[in-house]
Amino acid sequence: MDPNTAFAIKAASISDVPTLAKISSDSFLEDRHTQMKSQGENPYDLEQSMAAYLPRQIASPTSVLLKAVDESTGEIVGWISWGFRGFSPAEIAGPDPDATALISNEVESQKPAEEEKRVQASQEQQAKSEPGPVDDSPIKQLERITDADLRRWMDKVMPEGTRCMFVVSLCVSPKWQGKGVGASLLHWGTRKADAAGVFIWVHSSEGAWRMYQKHGFETLETLDVDLDQYAPSLLLNNQGRTEKWGHYVFRYMKRSPQG
Ligand SMILES: CC(C)(COP(=O)(O)OP(=O)(O)OC[C@H]1O[C@@H](n2cnc3c(N)ncnc32)[C@H](O)[C@@H]1OP(=O)(O)O)[C@@H](O)C(=O)NCCC(=O)NCCS
Repeated sequence: MDPNTAFAIKAASISDVPTLAKISSDSFLEDRHTQMKSQGENPYDLEQSMAAYLPRQIASPTSVLLKAVDESTGEIVGWISWGFRGFSPAEIAGPDPDATALISNEVESQKPAEEEKRVQASQEQQAKSEPGPVDDSPIKQLERITDADLRRWMDKVMPEGTRCMFVVSLCVSPKWQGKGVGASLLHWGTRKADAAGVFIWVHSSEGAWRMYQKHGFETLETLDVDLDQYAPSLLLNNQGRTEKWGHYVFRYMKRSPQG
């Protein structure tokens, strides 16, 4: 971590949603899968989709949404959404030396009663996708393939009765990347998982898997997608030339409890 950098990990609140959504789309600007999906007639808009999705995530009793804040300016520089399976709400809120008070005071009070009744599986399945009107474009076909594969993995890795944690989303503002923000957001959960003796899984983007590997995650499965099969046009590179999008590999990773 950069020794000159000081940031705090805090519970995110509903008023943070527009900023978190913007950080999400900024952080994925260089991600080829996201770039490809944002092409064509009905382009995928990550910022919009996150702005719609995050309030549900904040209200969910089985998730914890944390933000990293630059202590000198108050700027939000990154965030993570942790999913929990087989934990009680009290266990999810603590015990944790850094975030217990924040989570129990801020997040818990924002949970409307009806959210408590939400079925956990449906919340988790919505984690990566938004149901929309029927659209059979190649990009939508790809979305259905990646969503179905994620559901298959989830059924396999956490069948009924499993107690575990998972990373739903993690992103760091581009100018803050490489300064230890992602590691700190991840560390909150790895400590919690180790204390509870549970594994963590993540569906990793192509840019993040090495970081997860450094934090004890192992790749168990991959989904290799030939982006050119679904792309509406070739990729326009920084030199103004067109080239193929190439393959994109999603990695299903798992970290066993340690310590
Ligand atoms: C992936 C991401 C969250 C990492 O956050 P970050 O704040 O830049 O990461 P950190 O500075 O905390 O780095 C943590 C460790 O991972 C390593 N690391 C981070 N990105 C890496 C990369 N692309 N390749 C190799 N190692 C990497 C760092 O060297 C560091 O290792 P160290 O602790 O041994 O020094 C950030 O780059 C990001 O937002 N990427 C785009 C969105 C994304 O793909 N999110 C993941 C969704 S699953």
